[in-house]
Amino acid sequence: MTGTVPTELVGCDLTDPQTYLGTDVTALWRAFRRHSPVHRHPPSGGLPGFWAVTRYADVLAVYRDDERFTSERGNVLSTLLQGEDSAAGKMLAVTDGHRHREIRKLMLRSFSPRVLARHRESVRARTAALLAAAVREERFDFATRVADHIPINTMGDLMDVPEADRAKLVEWNTETLGSRHADGTQLDEVLARNEILLYFSELAEHRRRHPGEDVISALANGSVDGEPLSDEEVVLNCYSLILGGDESSRLSATGAVVALAEHPEQWRALKDGSVGLAEASEEVLRWTTPAMHFGRRARTEVQVGDQLITAGDIVTLWNSSANFDEEVFAEPERFDLARTPNKHLTFGYGPHFCLGAYLGRAHVEAVLEALREQVAELALAGPGHQIRSNFVYGYLNLPVSFRGEKR
Ligand code: HEM
Repeated sequence: MTGTVPTELVGCDLTDPQTYLGTDVTALWRAFRRHSPVHRHPPSGGLPGFWAVTRYADVLAVYRDDERFTSERGNVLSTLLQGEDSAAGKMLAVTDGHRHREIRKLMLRSFSPRVLARHRESVRARTAALLAAAVREERFDFATRVADHIPINTMGDLMDVPEADRAKLVEWNTETLGSRHADGTQLDEVLARNEILLYFSELAEHRRRHPGEDVISALANGSVDGEPLSDEEVVLNCYSLILGGDESSRLSATGAVVALAEHPEQWRALKDGSVGLAEASEEVLRWTTPAMHFGRRARTEVQVGDQLITAGDIVTLWNSSANFDEEVFAEPERFDLARTPNKHLTFGYGPHFCLGAYLGRAHVEAVLEALREQVAELALAGPGHQIRSNFVYGYLNLPVSFRGEKR
């Protein structure tokens, strides 16, 4: 530990969603990195304590070490604090070792460059069409009119969900995200999740008989060590694509608009082509860091930074801090679309590196491209409504005022 830990850090509750609302979170992380980079977070509300790792080098070291850290007892605060994840050993993100590698290989078969290039084109076309329809109105909600409809349809493409069923899937998935509905009950969330699982289970049954190039076919007809995957494994891994890909992609797309509106000189650089789309989207991904943390449990006693972690301890890795680490990024608190290198940890690192990173990038690039081509003037038309979460960060609603390019 570097000197005495300031009282505001000692008293900071990282489990409380309120901590991330209306606070200068960048300053909070800067203080953690400086004064308590591997911070012992106290137990609260009957839940155990945990470590909060905030420096880039330490976060990276834990991400890459699946020997001494396991994902099988949860990989986000909510499950880690409960002590278990019911999908452990079955769903990719919470499975370790050999089985993790084999399931990942199976899924990656349906992510060939040819297939991905096709999905990328659909993302571009869909995003351009959604924005074109919204821009005609000049004032609209960017999150609900544009961003919300892009990734769920990409997941639909990956799984080859028939067009006629897409709207149902979007509706169920919105229901599962309790944070979106003040009037939705927990029962509604569970029912909607079950509908999705049942739907995938029926689709998997069909794809066993009529396989295609999609990820459901790959899972439903795949095997690990000569044994076919169980129905539960197939269904959970289909669902994990939605869990992993939908919300985070939407939040980065909406976050891109906030960042551009707040940095008009960067918006101009994008418009006049002085920065490329690929480098610009990397900076948007760093700046927005939609998945604030992931986490692990230590299997053995292990040193992280300046602290000795005990076997069984929960270790949380704060991407939202690591991506602003002044040891790695020059002027990290400057939004600079031309930033290179830009080795952010938005998609994690190591064995569990985001399976959908290519598509996550494609989503942001498509949004930036559509904005550049179609919008002449871009401004926020009121405060956005921030998501309440200790895991994801960003806006559920974003009123904007755009003037379209003359056509
Ligand atoms: C894993 C972030 C988009 C599917 C991860 C991890 C991160 C992440 C940080 C590592 C988790 C860990 O180490 O425990 C993001 C962000 C996205 C995004 C910020 C968008 C901007 C997507 C998309 C998909 C997806 C579009 C699906 C096509 C997955 C899956 C895993 C994963 C299946 C588990 C990989 C494994 O355990 O081997 N994601 N993701 N993600 N992501 Fe993403």
